[in-house]
Amino acid sequence: MKGRVLVTGGLGYIGSHTAVELLAQGYEVLLVDNLSNTRASVLDGIEAISGKRPEWLQIDLADPAACRSALEGQHLDGIIHFAAYKAVGESVQEPLKYYQNNLGSLMNLLDYVSQHPSCGFIFSSSCTVYGQADRLPITEDAPVKAAESPYGNTKQIGEEIIREVAVARGLRAIALRYFNPIGAHASARIGELPLGVPQNLVPFITQSAAGLRGPLSVYGNDYPTEDGTAVRDYIHVVDLAQAHIMALERLLAQQNEEAMEVFNLGTGKGSSVLEVIHAFERATGASLSWDFAPRRAGDITAAYADTQRASAVLGWTAKKSLDESMRDAWAWQMALGSDSH
Ligand code: WQD
Repeated sequence: MKGRVLVTGGLGYIGSHTAVELLAQGYEVLLVDNLSNTRASVLDGIEAISGKRPEWLQIDLADPAACRSALEGQHLDGIIHFAAYKAVGESVQEPLKYYQNNLGSLMNLLDYVSQHPSCGFIFSSSCTVYGQADRLPITEDAPVKAAESPYGNTKQIGEEIIREVAVARGLRAIALRYFNPIGAHASARIGELPLGVPQNLVPFITQSAAGLRGPLSVYGNDYPTEDGTAVRDYIHVVDLAQAHIMALERLLAQQNEEAMEVFNLGTGKGSSVLEVIHAFERATGASLSWDFAPRRAGDITAAYADTQRASAVLGWTAKKSLDESMRDAWAWQMALGSDSH
């Protein structure tokens, strides 16, 4: 066994895909998920793909006593921390819920790692910390800008807390700043399960094309971009999951050069909303109805990653194309059937 890894939010979108990659690499996986934004049936998908059913604890990590009692006596070589609320809009309406949950659970986990400093810690961060970057592509030393939302602020503050605790306690930590995760495992056994009306572009596209939603609203066609629609760096969730294994192995081999290292995880390529729509229709043969709508408050014009550091230091690059991501997202939507929840 290569080591025992706790995956928090392990029944979630990126967490479940990372659990599958960890199991494939021979790691022992312990999942924690309170099912606040997913379903227990995701465990069946993980088992169907990997042939192993990881242990799952349904606890609220934001509860210090629950977190402590669940982790005491556990030997962990690494923790990959995904569990957090992540709805940008909701965080503006309910900031306290976001700070209490996202920062509370982080600090409870850091309490464990502080007592077990050999346990590597990987944090699910986001390119949202850059806001609208001044220069593209975005490098890791681009300035962190004032957060556009309490959600984004929990990622910024989370990174600062981890860095300070890692320095103070001699921990080994990596923050991974995701660009836009999309797609699903090729088996169509796991994928994105947005609760209610999807806020993110690709799950709305697949639900709309599947007839579960009305036409897609393209938020803004007056951006200063080639076709007027906003640009993002869409990365296949399996590529993203594999980056977590590379980051974990860096920490387990004690190769990190700072207490907390930061890596951007993207493809390095920007795609506009219209390009995503065309890729979807080209890759799947499905047709999508859409229309232009006003810009969405808080959206930035463009973001895509400079991938040099992840490539040179982690030895990781994204492999899957936008078309492949669209095919996998669509196959997952078809597998879900009308079961959007
Ligand atoms: C992508 C583009 C929209 C929906 C958010 C979070 C970020 C991360 C990823 C967690 C934008 C446009 C969208 C729709 C549209 N989440 N769009 N019609 O906003 O880049 O990032 O999700 O870490 O932190 O901020 O992703 O998928 O919501 O939007 O036109 O119905 O698609 O305006 O240009 P975003 P998104």
